[in-house]
Amino acid sequence: MCGIVGYIGKRNAMPIVVEALKRLEYRGYDSSGCGIIHDGELLVIKKQGKIVELERAIPDPAKCTGVVGIAHTRWATHGEPNEENAHPQVDCTHKLALVHNGIIENYKPLKEKLIQLGHEFKSQTDTEVLVHLVEEFLKTEVCLEDAVREAMKLVEGTYGLVVISTRFPDKLVAVRKGSPLILGIGNEEYFITSDVSATIIHTNKVIYLQDGEICTVTHNGFDITTLDKRNVKPVISTVDWDISAIEKGEFKHFMLKEIFEQPITIENAYRGRINEQISSTRLGGLNLSNNELRRIKKIQLVACGTSYHAGLIGKYIIEDLARIPVEIEYASEYRYRNPIVPEDTLVFVISQSGETADTLAALREAKAKGAMVMGITNVVGSTIARESDGGTYIHAGSEIGVASTKAFTSQVTILVLLAILLGRMRNLSPIKGLEYISELVNIPTKVEKILTHNETIRQIAQTFMNATNALYLGRGVNFPVALEGALKLKEISYIHAEGYPAAEMKHGPIALIDANMPVIVVAPKDPLYDKVFSNLEEVRARKARIITIATEGDIQLKSISENVIYIPDTLTNLQPLLTVIPLQLLAYHVADLRGLDVDQPRNLAKSVTVE
Ligand code: AGP
Repeated sequence: MCGIVGYIGKRNAMPIVVEALKRLEYRGYDSSGCGIIHDGELLVIKKQGKIVELERAIPDPAKCTGVVGIAHTRWATHGEPNEENAHPQVDCTHKLALVHNGIIENYKPLKEKLIQLGHEFKSQTDTEVLVHLVEEFLKTEVCLEDAVREAMKLVEGTYGLVVISTRFPDKLVAVRKGSPLILGIGNEEYFITSDVSATIIHTNKVIYLQDGEICTVTHNGFDITTLDKRNVKPVISTVDWDISAIEKGEFKHFMLKEIFEQPITIENAYRGRINEQISSTRLGGLNLSNNELRRIKKIQLVACGTSYHAGLIGKYIIEDLARIPVEIEYASEYRYRNPIVPEDTLVFVISQSGETADTLAALREAKAKGAMVMGITNVVGSTIARESDGGTYIHAGSEIGVASTKAFTSQVTILVLLAILLGRMRNLSPIKGLEYISELVNIPTKVEKILTHNETIRQIAQTFMNATNALYLGRGVNFPVALEGALKLKEISYIHAEGYPAAEMKHGPIALIDANMPVIVVAPKDPLYDKVFSNLEEVRARKARIITIATEGDIQLKSISENVIYIPDTLTNLQPLLTVIPLQLLAYHVADLRGLDVDQPRNLAKSVTVE
C-alpha cells in the first residue's frame, strides 16, 4: 500500500505535506514525491528511496511557497521503484498532479485509448492513466471535480487519490474507492491523508471518506458528494489518541516501543469486556444476541500473516473452551477456493490494518455465501471494520512498525474473550470461566516481568545474529507461536526461519540440523512438556544450538539448552501471550544488531492492500 497526503490552507504546503508523509512512511517506502502550486506553476519533486532522499532534493524553502500541495510515499505495484514511477504523476501539460493508493485494474485499455488521443506517458504505472484521464475530461468539463468525476466512471479497481491543478489553484479534489482516505479539519486548513497518523499533529477532527465519495476542498471549506453527484452529509469524528501514540519516545524503533506497550495494550483489549458476575465476557460489537451466539455450529477464522497466527491460536482455544469446530485459513486461499460456509457458521476476519486486500476479499466472499462476518481489527473506520456485520476493535493504538507485535497479542486476547464467551454459553463451567478471566488480568504484569529480560535477550541475539537459518519449534497452542517467532525473525532480519510443530521436525526438518542451526523451542510447563523435552533431546543429539522459552524454575531445560529465557507460569491456553514476547525481542535485537531497518524492512509495507 502507499501513503498519500493533500493540504490546502494558509501555511506553506511543502513542509506540511512532507512532514505528514513521514508519518505514513510505514505504508510504503520505495520512492516518494510531492507537488505544490508555486506562483501559478506546478512544482513536482520525486526521489527513489526513502523520504529522507526527497527532503534532500527539496530546494530552498523560500523557493517552495504555495499553500496547496500533495505528496506520496510508494510501495510499488506496477512499475519498478524509480523516479519516473514515483508519484505525483503529472499530465501532458504539467498543470495537473495526482497521487494515488490502490490498483487500476483496467489501466491497459485506458492507456491505449489515451495514447490514441495523443497523450504521452512517462511511467510504467497504472496511476498515470488517471491524471491523463482527468486532463482529457478537463477539455470539456468546467470544473476540476466534474472532470475527476467523469474520469473515475471509466475506472475499474481501487483508489484513494488526490489531484491538484494550476487551472484551479485553490482546490484539492479527493476520491475514495477501496483505499482509505481521511479529511482532517484544521483551523482554516484541511488535510487529506491515508490515515489519522498523518493528521493527528494538526487536528483530531476527521471525516472518514467512504467508497464512491468525492471530496472537493477549497480555502472556504469542503463538499462531499457521491460520484453521481448526490450530496453526502459529513460525519465528523474526534480521534481519541494523540501525537505521542505515533512518536518513538525514548525507544530506538517503533517496533521496540510497541513490544513494550503490550502490558497496556493487552489490558486495553480486555478492558470493559470481562463480566465477573457470570464469570464470562462481553463482546457487544458482535451485534449478536445470546440466542444467535448459541446457535453457532462452526467458526471460520480468515487472515494473513501474523493475524493468521493469532487466528490459529484462536482455533486451539475456542475449540478447547467452547467445543465449536473452528477452521482457520489464509485469506488469499479462502477467497479463491469456493469455500463451503454452512448455515450457522460465523466467519471472523482478523486484520490489524483493516485494509489487507486478501482479507477484505475473503470477507466479501463469505458474505456472498450468506454468512455473518465479524471483523477483529485495530483501525477505526477501516474498510474491513466498515464492511463487517459487526466485530471487535482490539484497541492496540496505532501500530507503526511493519512487523506486527502488540496487535498480535491484542488479537489473541480478543480470541480468548470470544472463547470464554462462547464456552460459557455451552459447557464451560463458572469455575473455569472465572479461572480464565482471573488469570487474564494477571497477564499484563507477567508480560512486564518478561520485558525485564530485554538486555539478556539482546545478548542471546548476539550469539546467532550471523546465522543463515533458524528453526522454531512448539506444540499445541505454542505451535502457532513458533510460526510467529519465525515470521518475526525472517521479515526484519532477512534470516530464513521456519516454524514447525515440534513433533513434526522428525519428518524432514531434522535433516537441516547441525551445529550451525539455532533451534528456538517454545517449551513452557504444560501437558505436552515431556513430549517437547524429548524433541529437544533429539535436536540436542544433532548438536544444534538450542534456545528455549521455559517456565520460571525449570532447571531441567537448562541442562540441554545453550540459552534459556524464562517466563512466568500461566494457564496453557494463555501461554502464547507470554511465550511470544521473548521471540519478538529476539527478532528485534537480531535485526538491530545486523544494522537493518527494523521498522521498515525491505520489500514490505505495513498493510498489503494489493493481491
Ligand atoms: C506481520 O508482522 C506482517 N507485517 C504481516 O504478516 C501482517 O501481519 C499481514 O500483512 C496482515 O496484516 P493485517 O493484520 O493488517 O491484515
